[in-house]
Amino acid sequence: MQSNGKGIADLIASHKPGYALDQRFYTDPDVYDLEMERVVGRNWILAGHQSELPQPGDFKVLNVAKESAIIVRGSDGKLRAFANVCRHRGSLVCLESEGHVDKFMCPYHGWMYDIDGKLTAARSMDGEFDKSGYGLNPVSLDIVHGLVLICFSDDPPGLDGAKRDLAEPMAIFDFENMKLAAHKSYDIPANWKLSIENYQECYHCATAHPEYSQRHTLMVDWRKRERLQTNMREKMEACGIRNIEIDRIDLNAPPGEMGYGYSRTAMFDGYVSGSRDGQPLAPLLGTISDFDGGASDFVFGAFSFLLAYSDHVVAYVFTPVDMRNCRCDIYWLVRGDAEEGRDYDADELTWLWDITTEADKTIIANNWRGVQSRYYKPGPFSNMERAERQWTEWVLQELARP
Ligand code: FES
Ligand SMILES: [Fe+2]
Repeated sequence: MQSNGKGIADLIASHKPGYALDQRFYTDPDVYDLEMERVVGRNWILAGHQSELPQPGDFKVLNVAKESAIIVRGSDGKLRAFANVCRHRGSLVCLESEGHVDKFMCPYHGWMYDIDGKLTAARSMDGEFDKSGYGLNPVSLDIVHGLVLICFSDDPPGLDGAKRDLAEPMAIFDFENMKLAAHKSYDIPANWKLSIENYQECYHCATAHPEYSQRHTLMVDWRKRERLQTNMREKMEACGIRNIEIDRIDLNAPPGEMGYGYSRTAMFDGYVSGSRDGQPLAPLLGTISDFDGGASDFVFGAFSFLLAYSDHVVAYVFTPVDMRNCRCDIYWLVRGDAEEGRDYDADELTWLWDITTEADKTIIANNWRGVQSRYYKPGPFSNMERAERQWTEWVLQELARP
């Protein structure tokens, strides 16, 4: 575990609080391997919404770094996840990213698995061979009010706190009964942490995101924002949105559990949703009775962030591909009974966060170019980078946890 003459434990200990991470956290393969084991491999990752897989045999595949999971609705109607790794000699079993099957057939030698993960056929094996010992390995899966989470550990962090404390805010939007309106994947040529750091701060918004900055208030001076917040709070309750704030994020997570959070922030006057013209994009969600001009942020663990407007939800998931590449998956969710063409237009719905994410892709890639330079030295965080600071400290804490 020695790299560049200095161990990772020393590297973590030498981190200066309030400053960006040392170069080696981004570029050292030993650090990356440890992150895969202790951070990415031990924590929950959002894999989508339960409505994406309504029927037994409906499946999707989620790839994260070297791991691949098949998420499938079983013959009993329950969602499960399995490692997409054949129990014969290890080939990927499922090469499609989503679809419907009666059985999964390994493309290498044809071993067949049913939708509950059991091995049902294997040619030319001798009489002693017991198929029951060769089912697909289970991957941890749980559902939090409609959202599907998976974890590549048999001993994942608890979800009791998130399920309990997020029950009320998630019920306002009726997450259980949403449906997926659109999904896009963005390949970002950068170390995965730079993408998540970027998502968590809006210091860059004013310069990088003119469309976002016209609508959202996260980058304005706190005094101006307070005035807008007060206006929104006065409207909120009448619109059926209770004023709730939860911060069990990252270092504030209950011991042994996934961190989570909830808050609502006002948009600028004239905007009720993340649309071009400020007008609604889809029917109101859940029990919301009118537009209050706000948008809510949900945090689910370390990789998954949701923005809930009154009429749709944008869910972000950032995962590593390898040390130098990562992916951002965005899921747009609307009311379960909304119909495309009648109630919403997918192009309009995805407009704001598509252009914003394309812009982020560029600035994150530039950041990645720069942090690899011999001249890179970690600089101090601004007051607008508190969430990012918390998150980087959480990563260090997880890296140091045996
Ligand atoms: S590796 Fe899958 S059948 Fe051989
Ligand atoms: Fe951004």
